[in-house]
Order: sequence, then structure tokens, then C-alpha cells
Amino acid sequence: MSILIKNIKQLIQVEDESVRWVAGSDMSKLPLLKDAFLLLDKDEIVDFGLMKDCKYSADMEIDAAGKLVFPSYCDSHTHLVYAGSREIEYIDKIKGLSYEEIAKRGGGILNSSKLLHDTSEDELFEQSFKRIQEIIRLGTGAVEIKSGYGLNPQDEIKMLRVIRRLQEASPITIVSTFLGAHAVPAEYKGRQSDYVDMVINEMIPQIASEGLADYIDVFCDKGFFTVEDTERILMAGMKYGLRAKIHANELDFSGGIQTGVKYNALSVDHLEFTGDEEITSLLDSETMPTLLPGAAFFLGMIDPPARKMIQAGLPLALASDFNPGSSPSGNMSFIASLGCIKLRLLPEEVFNATTKNTAYAMGLDATHGSICKGKKANIFITKEIPGYEFIPYSFGSNLIEQVILEGKIIPMSR
Ligand code: NIG
Ligand code: FE
Repeated sequence: MSILIKNIKQLIQVEDESVRWVAGSDMSKLPLLKDAFLLLDKDEIVDFGLMKDCKYSADMEIDAAGKLVFPSYCDSHTHLVYAGSREIEYIDKIKGLSYEEIAKRGGGILNSSKLLHDTSEDELFEQSFKRIQEIIRLGTGAVEIKSGYGLNPQDEIKMLRVIRRLQEASPITIVSTFLGAHAVPAEYKGRQSDYVDMVINEMIPQIASEGLADYIDVFCDKGFFTVEDTERILMAGMKYGLRAKIHANELDFSGGIQTGVKYNALSVDHLEFTGDEEITSLLDSETMPTLLPGAAFFLGMIDPPARKMIQAGLPLALASDFNPGSSPSGNMSFIASLGCIKLRLLPEEVFNATTKNTAYAMGLDATHGSICKGKKANIFITKEIPGYEFIPYSFGSNLIEQVILEGKIIPMSR
């Protein structure tokens, strides 16, 4: 079916040819057309331009007068397959315990790991599917999902199978990342390198043989996995064609950023602890620095030096980190608000960081992240609003009225 969207007040993030990412001062340029049309056919963007040049008709026409059209958000870092929730730890945090203190007491990731172990694959799918439906209505059209609450071969594979079932069951584009090295499980306490051996010798070969993961991740940070552990795991993953996307420098100057760059990671994520050395290592690399302001906000941690990174010429991506412990929300419009409010990014910068640059950070830049002929027909239409700046400004509001994924209209009421 073809869909013609007409009279669009602002058609955001248009490009004639897809560039892989935007960096430095280009981050503050958001290409758009005013009074525009957009033509979709089947699952593709076929054409766009100014209304005065529109000569098309289509099976369905949508009048978007007063409204904006965006390419769907790409959320390049989530852990949205999880069991249950952790609001009790949230209260511990309010009372003053730190993320690391909660983790040391067997809470945190290990708590989610126990809940996941006790939850069947079908139940895990149902819980996760609800989150997928929620983020679709919040404008996300592509999402990366990590394993990492299994922490043994059976449960890691259970998570990755659920991710595969989500891919089959929903119109959103999903990529999957194996994060066996998310935390050391209780039974390996004091034997971290044995656990790393198990990740390398048992988990990676099994997961690769079933084709269950696109990428590999390690939580390379203080109190979690060392640079040496990370290097061993990334090398093992590379043998199976798994490119790295790693958790780095959330809790300390862990060396994670430099390690990610050294192994040509697609992205390094979190980056609260980023100094001159880290910035230098990222320049001239193909690794996308990805900030997760939901986590820093929720945990009350320091913010990464976003402006300094852009001024140095780096690109930035912003993702939700949707997970039960440090960012229990996948609302990318709210992430855009946090980008402006907490990281002092401009609205243009946050939209580049949540569409184009996150598409790159999940290996989807050729097909997602912009309004470009031939790319996926994944878009959202806003309510009537003054302009794109109104979205991050109106923090907490859902201004998205209609979502189209794979060229099909998604029902918004449930
Ligand atoms: O990205 N930093 C490590 N992992 C997750 C948190 C997961 C959890 O607490 O459940 C994160 O913030
Ligand atoms: Fe994360």
C-alpha cells in the first residue's frame, strides 16, 4: 500500500544521500523541509519534497497540516528483555545507597538475573513484548536489545531467543547483542576469570552457532570487568564475526573507551568518565560515542562532557539504556529532553543524536535514521506543535500522534 503524507509543517532529517553519521559542528545542523510531502510505498520511503512540487496520489493520504514528520527514533542501547522490576532498589537509592553498593549486596543486575532465571521463556516474551509495544508508540522504529541477565548459557540463550521472537512478532527493527559479561554471577564470586573463560568457551560458540547475536558487549568498568577480561572476550567474539558495542566508563576511567576503539567497536556507551585521552582515542575512529542520559539522571551520577566532545569534533549518539536498574524508561523524546537539559545539547544536536547517529551505532545507517529515498518507511507524525524544538522542551509529554513502521500504520490506542 502507498501512503502520501501531505502539508507537513516540518519534515525533519531529510537527506538526498545517506551520510553515515554527523559530527562536531555539523551536529547542530538538522536538515528539514517546510510545507512538504512524503510518499511511502510498501516498506520504503519513495519520495519527498515541497508541497508545491507534489504530483502524487496514493492508496491512502494523510493531511499533516500543522504537524511534523520525523524518521523514527533509533534506540541503539537497551536491555528491555528483563523479568519483573526493581522499584524496591529504587527506594534504596532514594535513601542514599549507590548503584555499586546495591550491586555488592546481590541486588542490581544479579537481582534481575535471579528473576529472569525463575521466569519461563513465554512469560519473558510477554513482558518484553509489552515494552516493545510501548516504545513503538513513543516513536522508536529500531531498537538494539542486549542479553546480560542470564549469566549462564541456558538463561543467556533464553534471553536471545526472546529477542528473536520479538523480531518475528513486531514491525520494529531489532538488533541483538550478547552481553554475557554484564556481571559476575554469585556462583563465580572470587573466580571472575573462570566466568570469563565460560563466556568465551561455552557461551560465545553456542550463541554464534545459532546466529542469535549481531554484536557483543562487555561491561568494562570499575567493580565489573577489567580491560584484560574485555580484550579476551572481544577477541573471542571477533572470531565469530561479532563486532563490539561496549559499556565503558560509567563508573570510572576504566580504559573501556580506549579498548573499544582498539577493537573497532561500533559504539562505546555511557562515557560519564571521559577525559582528553578518551576523546583523542575516539577521534579518527569508527566507534560511535553513545551517551545514556537516562541512566545518569536516574542514578544521580555525573554527566559526560558532551559539549567538550562535540567541540573536539566527535559525533554523539543518545540512547535510552531502557533497563530495570538504571533507566526504566524507553521514552526517546524524554531522552531528547535530558540531552538538552542535562547535557546542554541543542535540539538539532539531540535529534541527530537520536536518529542518524544511533542508526549508525546499531549498524542500520544504510536503512534507518533519516528521511532518504530507499530507506525504511519508519516514521512518526507529531500532534500540532510549533516546531521540532517543542519536543525536548515539553519534557514528559507524548506529542506523537501517529506511527508508521514498515509502511504500515500502527494503531495507537490499545
Ligand atoms: O547500562 N551499566 C550496566 N548495565 C546497565 C544496568 C543494568 C541494571 O542495573 O540492570 C546499564 O546501566
Ligand atoms: Fe546498558
